[in-house]
Amino acid sequence: MKTPVAFTLNGVERAAFADPGQNLLDFLRRAVGDLTPKYGCGQGGCGACTVVVDGKTVLSCLVLAETVAGKRVETAAGLAQGAALHPLQHAFMEHFAAQCGYCTPGMLISARALLDRNPNPSRAEIVEAISGNLCRCTGYEPIIAAIESVAAGRTRA
Ligand code: FES
Ligand code: FES
Repeated sequence: MKTPVAFTLNGVERAAFADPGQNLLDFLRRAVGDLTPKYGCGQGGCGACTVVVDGKTVLSCLVLAETVAGKRVETAAGLAQGAALHPLQHAFMEHFAAQCGYCTPGMLISARALLDRNPNPSRAEIVEAISGNLCRCTGYEPIIAAIESVAAGRTRA
């Protein structure tokens, strides 16, 4: 039997039905229509599905959809405000930190969560914050440089 799940997605109240055992990643993509969380491994190993639930990053492939009832879910779809990109999105563009782009939504969410709790992270703290987000394309250096530039205030919206 499907379960109704009412929650907040990027500040907007949403409700949809979750299938029995459906994970949050599948729920967001199929039932809610937010395609920014990506399916990479489906077992907690790649970070492509990273979202924020009540202020904490989670791997949405490992979370049951019904557990977000009444909670605040944030995804990369909520980073831009209309046509105004988030500073991290600007920085990723400026530093060529996205190539195929498949890891990018998860990277952005992990980076934003880091800067929310620590606006001035060290390089080591940035590396630690994105250590669960795998990227096959960039070698990570452009991503780290992009996050550093936002932390240093060099890239703004
Ligand atoms: Fe969730 Fe890889 S798809 S960690
Ligand atoms: Fe391709 Fe990161 S840009 S996996």
